Amino acid sequence: MRSTTVLIALTSSLVPAVSAHGHVRGVTVNGKWTPGADPVWYYNPNGVAPNAGWKSLNQDNGFVEPSAMASADVNCHKSATPGQTYIDVNAGQEVKFYWNTWPDSHKGPIINYIAPCDGDCTTKSAQSLRWTKISQGAIVSGNTWVTDQMLTNNFTSTTTIPRNLKAGNYVIRHEIIALHGAQNVNGAQLYPQCLNLRVGGSGSVAPSGGVPGTSLYRNNEPGIIFNLYTGQTSYTFPGPAVWTGAN
Ligand SMILES: *[C@@H]1O[C@H](CO)[C@@H](O)[C@H](O)[C@H]1NC(C)=O
Repeated sequence: MRSTTVLIALTSSLVPAVSAHGHVRGVTVNGKWTPGADPVWYYNPNGVAPNAGWKSLNQDNGFVEPSAMASADVNCHKSATPGQTYIDVNAGQEVKFYWNTWPDSHKGPIINYIAPCDGDCTTKSAQSLRWTKISQGAIVSGNTWVTDQMLTNNFTSTTTIPRNLKAGNYVIRHEIIALHGAQNVNGAQLYPQCLNLRVGGSGSVAPSGGVPGTSLYRNNEPGIIFNLYTGQTSYTFPGPAVWTGAN
């Protein structure tokens, strides 16, 4: 009797740890907090206020597999639907993303893309978006990755909106690619998080070279295939080059 109770208690205490990957709780711009889509929206559809985050079926705080890179899920996570509000930010300002948690084993790059909505973002489909990469980071030094920095910075990661970016509505795709299993085909884990931005300011340069999410990566390219355990000191980023046309 006693040992059964102990076993149940132990098992249930392990469950959250096993599924604790992460999602973006919200962002700050100039210290102002705006919530993102919390996966609980699914269980509490009437209790969650409309917000700028794209909702998806990531109730497990889980990931998109490389085998799904040809599916619309690669854009903004599984079965994503648009955020209903916007985060106000001016070109040249920083957006700070707050993850709810992140396991330290899940090292990998953090990459940011933007897609112009050419009008209203709240009615867009994920697959209609055309992504332009604006920033990326990976190995900081030695065995320290940007994901490690994120952990020590209260699970936050920051990117700067290009200072000359044309004003308008955009979706930002903030992504971590966890590499702890990426030595195997289909072992990388993609954690894309999308939020609507209303970019202000006097910038004049529209993004160029945007591609649909399904064209961003190939499941066998360097950076999707990567061995974290062989002391590699450089990392080849997957996907397009960083666009600097509005920097
Ligand atoms: C850490 O982030 C949370 C939001 O995820 C925030 O509520 C808290 O104030 C932050 N702590 C510090 C020390 O900034």
